Amino acid sequence: MTSRAASRPRPVGTVTRGTTNPNRLRRMDRWIAAVHGAELRRATDPVAVDLGYGAAPWTAVELLRRLRTAAPRTRVVGVEIEPARVAAALPYEREGLVFRHGGFEIPVPGRPALIRAANVLRQYDEDEAAAVWERLCARLAPASDRSRGGLLVEGTCDEIGRRHVWVALGPEGPRTVTFAARLGSLDRPSDLAERLPKALIHRNVPGEPVHAFLRDFDRAWAAAAPYASYGARQRWIRAVRDLGTDWPVRDGAARWRQGEVTVAWEALAPRG
Ligand SMILES: C[S@@+](CC[C@H](N)C(=O)[O-])C[C@H]1O[C@@H](n2cnc3c(N)ncnc32)[C@H](O)[C@@H]1O
Repeated sequence: MTSRAASRPRPVGTVTRGTTNPNRLRRMDRWIAAVHGAELRRATDPVAVDLGYGAAPWTAVELLRRLRTAAPRTRVVGVEIEPARVAAALPYEREGLVFRHGGFEIPVPGRPALIRAANVLRQYDEDEAAAVWERLCARLAPASDRSRGGLLVEGTCDEIGRRHVWVALGPEGPRTVTFAARLGSLDRPSDLAERLPKALIHRNVPGEPVHAFLRDFDRAWAAAAPYASYGARQRWIRAVRDLGTDWPVRDGAARWRQGEVTVAWEALAPRG
């Protein structure tokens, strides 16, 4: 007789290194709460998936806490492809937080309002990333006349979350790219290139839009040097304001103050 576990289809994807850290994804969590909080509040059943939470469940615990400040009914499902990491997370389950074994198929009933995949695709090949995006976007809550639909946030950061870049996608595909940093840790904006998500990291070469963007950002940063005497934040705000004359910056000073900037995906999308 086949056991229930043996008859379940294998999760889609590959086990990779489980490196994580408490508070590592705070910048991404806060951004999601700010830009997607209203959608989560409107959703009938606001389910957020922390896909590939790693060797310890901290990022899922923190995602629940931060999203609930914006949308108190939010529930989080941590999904991990490595079964031992699911077993290790189970003692951390609580009201609104469960852990499930699974992969890119997203083993939750229905269509989630959010899928967050941080530092997951980085360990896959570039040519796999587009198919994974498509698969995950197809699992999101669909758009309707009162909603833009669910959000997939996929990106990368350093070990302690000082430098972060992520792409946000809706059911229809990629929408924006966000760069976020602890500004004191940056010599120049292009330092963030090392954290570009899989879809962009191999495209940071002359002739590609993301390369031109980071070059222009460095120039704007250099031109804003006199503002450094008021602090790195004022310098960043000034540089982003300048950058916005040539690039479709999608947010405003309230976000720039956090050491962020969000740009329309179309402007940075790889050529060809
Ligand atoms: C580097 S850790 C990232 C942990 C956490 N998200 C963070 O940013 O700190 C990547 C995790 O993703 C998991 N993973 C890789 N592919 C996956 C998939 N297809 N579905 C679910 N988890 C996956 C790996 O097993 C690993 O534990």
